[in-house]
Amino acid sequence: MAQLYTKDTQAIFWNNNSSAIQRMLDYDYTIKRKKPSVAGIVAPTSSSKFEKFFYGPDEIMIPLYKNSAEAKAAQPQADVLLNFASFRTAYDVTMEALEIGGFKSIMVTAEGIPERLARKMNATAKAKNVIVIGPATVGAIVPGAFKIANIGGTIENIVQSKLHRAGSCGLVTRSGGLFNELSNIIAINADGIAEGVAIGGDRFVGSVFIDNLLRMEANPEVKYMLLLGEVGGTEEYKVIEAVKSGKIKKPIIAWCIGTIAKYYDSGVQFGHAGASANGDMETAEAKNKAMKEAGIHVPASFNNLPEIISAVHHELHAEGIIKDIKEPATNVCPSVRKSKEFICTISDDRGDEATYAGFPISSLATPDTGKGIGDVISLLWFKKQYPKWATDFIETVIKTVADHGPAVSGAHNAKVTARAGKSVVESLVTGLLTIGPRFGGAIDDAAKYFKYANDNKLSPADFLNHMKKEGIPIPGIGHRIKSLKNPDLRVEGLKKYAAKSFPATPLLDYALTVEQLTTSKKENLILNVDGTIGILMVDMWRALGYSEDEISEFISSGTLNSFFIVGRSIGFIGHVLDEKRLAMPMYRHPMTDILYDVQVAEEI
Ligand code: ACO
Ligand code: LMR
Repeated sequence: MAQLYTKDTQAIFWNNNSSAIQRMLDYDYTIKRKKPSVAGIVAPTSSSKFEKFFYGPDEIMIPLYKNSAEAKAAQPQADVLLNFASFRTAYDVTMEALEIGGFKSIMVTAEGIPERLARKMNATAKAKNVIVIGPATVGAIVPGAFKIANIGGTIENIVQSKLHRAGSCGLVTRSGGLFNELSNIIAINADGIAEGVAIGGDRFVGSVFIDNLLRMEANPEVKYMLLLGEVGGTEEYKVIEAVKSGKIKKPIIAWCIGTIAKYYDSGVQFGHAGASANGDMETAEAKNKAMKEAGIHVPASFNNLPEIISAVHHELHAEGIIKDIKEPATNVCPSVRKSKEFICTISDDRGDEATYAGFPISSLATPDTGKGIGDVISLLWFKKQYPKWATDFIETVIKTVADHGPAVSGAHNAKVTARAGKSVVESLVTGLLTIGPRFGGAIDDAAKYFKYANDNKLSPADFLNHMKKEGIPIPGIGHRIKSLKNPDLRVEGLKKYAAKSFPATPLLDYALTVEQLTTSKKENLILNVDGTIGILMVDMWRALGYSEDEISEFISSGTLNSFFIVGRSIGFIGHVLDEKRLAMPMYRHPMTDILYDVQVAEEI
């Protein structure tokens, strides 16, 4: 892998660190990336499904996942894991990601992971050819392509340090703070960086200087490299070896910080866990000297670094190796942004013509479009254009449940309300309010319980026992007037349609075995119209390729009862209009039809 990241690279961000994620997205917007660099967030304790972020002046939703496996399965293209777990969890998160596979690089931000674990983690990653950046790092950047979290600082600082577009230096440091400082120095004295990595301050980090420099040697965008080492460790000597053996041919500028250590009597431990010399070879002085001897450009002091950068850059420019950079156009993030209160993912009325899930209304409304109400429902409820057999099924359901005469609970209520002088909407609502577990609203629960029984391979007898224990009648079974002798022809019609048009009906087949048992007990315990609809919808969704989780979510959010609500509204409105047309007077229920059982008050 010559280039660490590209403009298409996407990451999974472990931990909902919203300010760091927002910085990544501000960067994406600034450099005009097409896709956000964060594809998903692992937020184990969150119950939300997404988090809103600004993308320039607009907002986007980034999905949240409970764990890395779920995130990776949903976002297989995301091959970078940004592990922002605490030092207590970071090891496990990395090891799990290595187990899941599919990540090319993993960045670990936590400082203080026990060294024994860090070594094991790094060795496992190396064996699997996965680049680990960190632990104890702010990350890496490929300017103009992808930036990890907070590296480079604020967006203003990034643009000022020319980190918004590729330059020609490959920068490797241990420290994140000095990474930013050097980016700025390189921007002022040369043309910015092509790729930069802060490898991290812990003693045992995943990718070391040499790993990054060898990659940069192979990356044609990098014309020269700058290495900022520090006191402690011997990693710089591997770079010296590579230069001596000719493995690295591009010019390297290098400096090891920590030369002040010699002025102290005893060994000095600097801020990083790895920044302490265990022996002469590990001092900054010795390393600077050895690097200089190997032909690396080493300044006399840190203060002389800018002039060396400028000189190397000029030379490569004069040789034609470094070309002039045409400054790209960038977007500017607005400084004041307001988060939106509502989200809509189904329709859009902002253009000339409103759309249903992206389809202009005129492409669906008139008969010549060939589209029906089933298409409109599939778009507005499920944000997908279902195939004809499925939209025809939806329409069959709507037409089937549109009315069942004036005597049923809801129609009766709507009629009484209309006769009390109320409006269409008021009367309709009183009808709709009767839809529930006994009347018309057993569809969701029928789907839920039959699916549960079938998924768990319960025999019909076991299913009946299970429901007995739950203490509720089986939703979707039983009817007041329909029975084996007086079959519900609506159910027959739905079953016939499914047999003809569905690829398969496994849940219906199971439900019919249950019906055999219930009707053997009592002949009105048939699979009723609610049950048939709920069960066939599950068969439809399975055939359409929905996951079991998605189907369960449809059920628990009340999607199935909604088919009855839409269909039966047609009938209720019919009954209300009928009452109005007939100018019927207020209804009073005959007292002879009421059993009065009120105690006579005792004499006071
Ligand atoms: N599961 C198991 N046993 C049942 C069921 C059922 N779904 N429905 C009725 N029974 C049993 C009762 O326990 C009772 O048994 P018992 O005689 O041993 O005491 C017997 O059948 C009669 O019960 P009722 O409640 O009097 O039955 P009724 O015919 O009045 O009820 C109803 C009809 C309300 C639809 C009922 O069957 C039921 O609650 N079913 C489940 C809910 C349902 O699917 N509703 C949608 C109906 S279709 C529609 O509204 C469009
Ligand atoms: C309906 O569709 O309303 C009926 O199944 C209920 C009933 O009581 O007839």
